[in-house]
Amino acid sequence: MEFLTDKHLLNFEIMDDLHKEFIEIYNSVEENNYKSYKNVITKLLEQTKRHFSEEEKLMDLYKYPRFKEHKDEHNKVLKEMEYFLKNSHSIFGQKILKSYYTQKLPYWFDLHLTTMDRDLVYFIKEKNS
Ligand SMILES: [Fe+2]
Ligand SMILES: [Fe+2]
Repeated sequence: MEFLTDKHLLNFEIMDDLHKEFIEIYNSVEENNYKSYKNVITKLLEQTKRHFSEEEKLMDLYKYPRFKEHKDEHNKVLKEMEYFLKNSHSIFGQKILKSYYTQKLPYWFDLHLTTMDRDLVYFIKEKNS
């Protein structure tokens, strides 16, 4: 994954830094090494919890009206990450974890950032202007 200025930059430092950090951790995985997938997704889960809690603090602070949809989406992805991690003991589980990691997670990241996160930043900026 690459941090693409056109697509990913929100011009809101706290969130941009968290998103860059996500990509950095994401990219640290060693391909064809299941143990590495497990280690990196564990790290990513911890970072993502911090990332979401920072965004949710902003939602509360600015009384963001669409907080429910946004928080639900956060909780959904945390549950998914936990689920695939918990079920990665068998070879089958490891394959599923890898598919989730390589196919679904980047897609989710792009979609969430360009829709919900962008909307949140837009709202904060409007409120501050
Ligand atoms: Fe985010
Ligand atoms: Fe978010």
